[in-house]
Amino acid sequence: MTAYRVGYFVGSLSSTSINRTLAKALVRLAPDDLELKEIPIRDLPLYSPDYDADFPAEARAFKAAIAAVQAVLFVTPEYNRSIPGALKNAIDWATRPWGENSFDHIPAAVIGMSTGPIGTALAQQSLRGVLSFVNARQMTAPEAYLRWTPDMFGDDGEVLLESTEAVLRRFLAEFREHVVRVLTVLPRS
Ligand SMILES: Cc1cc2nc3c(=O)[nH]c(=O)nc-3n(C[C@H](O)[C@H](O)[C@H](O)COP(=O)(O)O)c2cc1C
Repeated sequence: MTAYRVGYFVGSLSSTSINRTLAKALVRLAPDDLELKEIPIRDLPLYSPDYDADFPAEARAFKAAIAAVQAVLFVTPEYNRSIPGALKNAIDWATRPWGENSFDHIPAAVIGMSTGPIGTALAQQSLRGVLSFVNARQMTAPEAYLRWTPDMFGDDGEVLLESTEAVLRRFLAEFREHVVRVLTVLPRS
């Protein structure tokens, strides 16, 4: 069976991140032919154009990790009605140096969880704008705005609520179809 390699980014650096738990749940529930692997953003320095002539090792490894996958998935919290700075920084690294945009034509999807009632809706809108500009081929539907509750997950991403599992399974099934469709017309090596 051919497996599609998906790199996911967790937008939170928190050691108790609910979005990391969500990412673990997605790994558990993913269709058999979606291979989800984290692409870490934690060790990236703050981006500056001064690095363009000679990227540091962390940034080279980051761009190599994106080049090695066929699709990307953003699992992010909302910070002050937008995306966390660490995630924006990672996106900026990926799109530089000029002419070497790692996200060009890549199949992408966005999901997120917050403790607040709007479930990262504004962060996701903000991220979608960025992903449009960087020419990622993002899945537009279904959207997935999740509000965390303590009964939702076990410690290692086991999904304890049937309703949450159904939402995540549907999201992943649609994402799989999206990846297949985009790669059909825009293959990646
Ligand atoms: C700096 C900061 C800003 C936040 N802003 C928002 C916000 O705009 N909307 C929201 O729903 N939650 C907001 N929160 C609460 C987050 O939803 C909550 O901290 C959540 O646990 C973050 O996800 P994480 O656990 O994966 O880091 C904010 C939290 C922090 C630390």
